[in-house]
Amino acid sequence: MSEKEWITAHWSALLEDLVAFLKFPSVSAQSSYRQDLQAAADWLAEQLRGLGFSVEKVGEPPVLHGFYKGPASAPTVLFYGHYDVQPPEPLELWESPPFTPRIKDDKIYARGASDDKGQVFIHLAAWRYLLERYGELPVSIHAVIEGEEETGSQTLYGVLESHGAAWKSDVILVSDTAFFSADVPTLTVGLRGLIYSEIIVQGPQRDLHSGSFGGVAPNPALALAEILSQLKGSDGRVKVPGFYERVRPVRAEERGLWRQLPANEQHYLQLTGAPALAGEVGFAPIERIGIRPSLDVNGMVSGYIGEGAKTIIPAQALAKVSMRLVPEQDPAEVWQAFHDFVMQVAPPSVKVEVRLLHEPAPPFETPIDSRYYQAAEEAIAEVFGRRPIPVREGGSIPVLSALQKRLGNPPAILMGFGLPTDAVHSPNEHFHLEQLRKGIEASIRFYKKIGGRN
Ligand code: BES
Ligand code: ZN
Repeated sequence: MSEKEWITAHWSALLEDLVAFLKFPSVSAQSSYRQDLQAAADWLAEQLRGLGFSVEKVGEPPVLHGFYKGPASAPTVLFYGHYDVQPPEPLELWESPPFTPRIKDDKIYARGASDDKGQVFIHLAAWRYLLERYGELPVSIHAVIEGEEETGSQTLYGVLESHGAAWKSDVILVSDTAFFSADVPTLTVGLRGLIYSEIIVQGPQRDLHSGSFGGVAPNPALALAEILSQLKGSDGRVKVPGFYERVRPVRAEERGLWRQLPANEQHYLQLTGAPALAGEVGFAPIERIGIRPSLDVNGMVSGYIGEGAKTIIPAQALAKVSMRLVPEQDPAEVWQAFHDFVMQVAPPSVKVEVRLLHEPAPPFETPIDSRYYQAAEEAIAEVFGRRPIPVREGGSIPVLSALQKRLGNPPAILMGFGLPTDAVHSPNEHFHLEQLRKGIEASIRFYKKIGGRN
């Protein structure tokens, strides 16, 4: 039976398993979902055991480590993925509930469908095929699947220290990224780093009547607006001193590669649905996403936002501000500069606190001259009918750099099968079933190639 025939023959059973995985509301950002993270981890552990992996669960929420011993001469793959998902809010914008998976128009809708449960599932399915076909996996595998990727991987950083030495591998494999589009396959060769912070502005010690105190009491919402407005110029450049100091200039050969992509302004206007694009002048959109750093406000709140009017001067204002980092920016250095700049531009009438919400993550890059990269390239070309183009994506997998370092710097293959239209982190997240089918097929081929089974 060919890979394709096997997938077709097992399709409904595969979908049933994926649906079961997607039903766990494994949201890592909110503490009320702790039990659900456990349950999702238990489900995964069972799946891995069923495939012949020896499994350990470490920490809370658990980092799952499964090990499969393949042929002695075959390489060892460290497969990394995450079973946690982003919060589903705003719930009212979902057409079907986020944790009741629904199939419509050859897509499966659920929080985590694309990021990252559907993509982790691709590998569970590929391993299952290989076991049935050959009676064993063609490679050794350390499967490391965590439940805190979306909140900064705190547990995994610790587990890397305590357990990482035993995870030595020849290559890291991740499916947690996206193609450029369904008909333009890509392999991700760079991700941006991330600093995520919270700015808390304290004005009066409680909400005040804005008539009795308007004109004397400082307004924290206005103070926050004043701070935020100084972070970026109208040319789209971040004004934190030294922010661009170490940023590596765009390489001519990279520019050349990206010209192969239909990545014009229209493409991003359509993807964003915004009236116009924003960002740093002098760079193409794909460069602004892949190789230039950025700064964004992820959320802000202050005062009364319920129905009708309420005349107050709020006590507090809060904003979540994040920065995406590129080679050779240093997360610690940028964080310090950002912190100091916010304190410096803050009006003296309010009390300002700037704090990190998780460990700053450095940018990530991987070489494309390894035999593993070549195998991924061939596997995708065979299944999707087109050679994948190496691209840098703007998102982050914060722990990846530390993981790679801990394993002695093996190459990493970021073979993701999402699409930019999957609505990850948004309402109505979905995964295209065609990407799922072909993703399983391409992954099977990848494992066969690097395990010498062709
Ligand atoms: N799967 C994404 C990473 C990603 C996004 C890669 C877009 C390529 C393109 C990952 O799960 C993610 O969203 N990471 C977070 C990390 C953060 C919350 C600590 C991110 O990038 O915002
Ligand atoms: Zn993800």
